[in-house]
Amino acid sequence: MHNPLLDVIIPLMIYLDNAATSYPKPECVHTRVDEVLRKIGGNPGRGSHRMALEAGRVIFSTREALARLLNVPDASRLVFTKNATEAVNIALKGLLRRGDHVVTTSFEHNSVAKTLRRLEREGVSVTRVRGRRPDLVEACEIEEALTDSTRLVAVVHASNVFGTIQPVAEIAEVLRKRGVLLMVDGAQTVGALEVDLGSLGADVFVGTGHKALFGPQGTGFLYLAEGVEPEPLVDGGTGELDDLLEIPDRLEAGTMNTPGIGGLGAGVGFVLDEGVARIREHEVRLVRRIMDGLAGIGGISILGTPEPDERASLVTFNIDGIAPEEVGTRLDRDFAVMVRSGAHCAPSAHRMAGTYPKGAVRVSPGYFNTEDDIEAFLQAVASIAAG
Ligand code: ALA
Repeated sequence: MHNPLLDVIIPLMIYLDNAATSYPKPECVHTRVDEVLRKIGGNPGRGSHRMALEAGRVIFSTREALARLLNVPDASRLVFTKNATEAVNIALKGLLRRGDHVVTTSFEHNSVAKTLRRLEREGVSVTRVRGRRPDLVEACEIEEALTDSTRLVAVVHASNVFGTIQPVAEIAEVLRKRGVLLMVDGAQTVGALEVDLGSLGADVFVGTGHKALFGPQGTGFLYLAEGVEPEPLVDGGTGELDDLLEIPDRLEAGTMNTPGIGGLGAGVGFVLDEGVARIREHEVRLVRRIMDGLAGIGGISILGTPEPDERASLVTFNIDGIAPEEVGTRLDRDFAVMVRSGAHCAPSAHRMAGTYPKGAVRVSPGYFNTEDDIEAFLQAVASIAAG
């Protein structure tokens, strides 16, 4: 049921939680979801009538648009999932076997950290690198952790807590020589940073549709380089035998989220039209202003790199003497500013930062935020810090 109060409140709110999910979405995303639901009612890949074929074209065109954005020459190497977590699970559980060794960082999101913990119970061994810096892993630190049984390295492209961008191309270079697979978690970067899978050197790349790609929630994807063929996590789908099916179909069992994937296609189209460089420039400007503004308030500690252009569009911080939950609640209740506080589904990152278990406050501007939004946020934080 629609709550009419929302129509009054929403224009007054300042949404700065785009690292959790982007809001608002571009108008073209609303239009496309509506169009798919109203006019393209068929089931993609099931049946040969016009509506089923048209639904198939919705999936096809989103796959093609995503391949264009990420410079993937063969779009069939992109598998749609319901989110980045599902993509991580397909890759890790579908590729790793008892006896395999995995190297990862000490600041991964739970999607990777918890999946690896389960695999450890099933005979996979895991090394979590603690580097010189809490927020960054260097290629040489990964290299030192490799053993003869290392099958895969899992690295987040930019941590959802620290924001710091990891040197994934350098890590890929090291691993190529050693014949070890690289999985990159791009949940916080895809759409917001240039990601060129044609040259990055990642064998597996996971992304979400509902953050910087502006798609609806319930959309995500998995990229698999040529020759990387995980076993399916979920069985079913079209055809008789799994062995006869190739990706993406082999890993996309069951009726797909056609309206969501249609909306995701419109979001990707929006990013392509605006250009990642322009989006990035805007977000870095806002992040720089946030960091300068917070530094000027006093009593505030910021996690991660001090360089705005070396981080994804998020800044995580604490105010001395005030619990992050309280800061988040007061920002919302007293100033209508929405941020995310707590452990951000990444307790290991907070352990590295020394902010576990209370966590921190994370502000994450998006392409639709303005400098006025940031000034209002900074004034609100200054008022809370002043007590
Ligand atoms: N992983 C998402 C976040 O960082 C939900 O908020």
